[in-house]
Amino acid sequence: MNYEIKDISLADRGKMRIEWARSMMPVLRLIEERFHKEKPLREIRIAACLHITSETANLVKALKEGGANVFLCASNPLSTQDEVAASLVKDYGISVFAIRGEDKKTYYEHIHSVLKIEPQITMDDGADLVSTIHSEKRDFPIIGGTEETTTGVIRLRSMANEGVLRYPIIAVNDANTKHLFDNRYGTGQSTIDGILRATNMLLAGSTFVVCGYGWCGKGIAMRARGMGARVIICEVDPLKALEAVMDGYLVMPLKEASSLGNIFITSTGDKGVIREEHFKEMRNGAIVANAGHFNVEIDLDGLERLSIRKRKIRESVEEFTLKDGRKINLISEGRLVNLSSAEGHPSLVMDMSFANQALSCEYLIKKGGNLERRVYSVPSEIDKKVAKLKLESMGIEIDELTEEQKIYLSSWKIGT
Ligand code: NAI
Repeated sequence: MNYEIKDISLADRGKMRIEWARSMMPVLRLIEERFHKEKPLREIRIAACLHITSETANLVKALKEGGANVFLCASNPLSTQDEVAASLVKDYGISVFAIRGEDKKTYYEHIHSVLKIEPQITMDDGADLVSTIHSEKRDFPIIGGTEETTTGVIRLRSMANEGVLRYPIIAVNDANTKHLFDNRYGTGQSTIDGILRATNMLLAGSTFVVCGYGWCGKGIAMRARGMGARVIICEVDPLKALEAVMDGYLVMPLKEASSLGNIFITSTGDKGVIREEHFKEMRNGAIVANAGHFNVEIDLDGLERLSIRKRKIRESVEEFTLKDGRKINLISEGRLVNLSSAEGHPSLVMDMSFANQALSCEYLIKKGGNLERRVYSVPSEIDKKVAKLKLESMGIEIDELTEEQKIYLSSWKIGT
């Protein structure tokens, strides 16, 4: 069996983490049980490029129970849980290629390692597998792929628009049972968790600046406010900015917010959001972090240029000293703070995201290559099924439409 991980002796700890996560992933457990009986993914080769966490381990286990042969690499150099990688190899027989803190060269070597199996399905978080396959013109037959996050979906849509996408992709991120919960409540909670673990900062009474009021930004702002921070939103989209105003936040350009904030967090999927002009205005001791997919939201070169010194002051905090003596603290090298400084999203929310992944994978195989080369939404029956199973797992019942209501809601003739 091929693999490259940090240390196989970490497996026992990893196994317990995987089991802990499993206890909080009831929907995925149900899918795994069915996959075990029906083997819908029999002998399918899957290359997965995902954050190597205990939740991902449970997804991979479910796919394996379905009959698939899964090769796994990391979708971010800093998010790998080495003990989980070790257990996946030792206890579950999965080929994993990921080491926390790997450099860029190793990161891409690991992507190449999983592509060696010539996957029939790719599973991405950020579209690195798809973009490698396309930029290197790899031409093995592929049934389809799935994409986990907003940034990946944007990249894939632009490939589809340019007519270069070689195979169909299901945008798992666009499922309601994914982004409404994972991006909002998952990123909201785990980003705060990452900032707190990294800094032990008191949020109450602080001024907390959130750049980007999309699904992730909404969650982060909501949770920061809940802990007593004064929250400022910076946006470029008038509609989102208006929404933030009516949600009760202060809204202003980042240039203005720069001199007010104690903590700055980016969640835009854009690049160069916090730049030199902003660092120049920041208060001494400001904390800067990113929750967006790539480490390009904070202009790290700009920060280096303004600085005369930098040192690692805490496990995942670098302190930059500017020429005038002010200090700016950067968490996790500007990489996803919730996965680098904490454990990523709670299992209970990843349960839904990964249920969508597993069912979308099954759907791709059922369609057997009959889809077009474009980006598809998750079929609404899958989305609804995940919501229904999740509610059931929580012991929550809801009302049903009566026959009379069904007729009323589908008719235009009944006005009163
Ligand atoms: P979204 O599209 O819902 O929101 C992004 C928002 O940022 C939009 O409202 C947009 O107008 C705004 N924006 C873009 N450029 C901006 C700029 N220069 N200044 C201020 N605002 C700007 O996207 P979503 O789902 O919130 O995702 C955001 C990023 O977070 C993506 O990179 C996504 O892949 C990533 N993500 C990270 C997760 C994590 O675990 N940390 C989980 C899910 C998504």
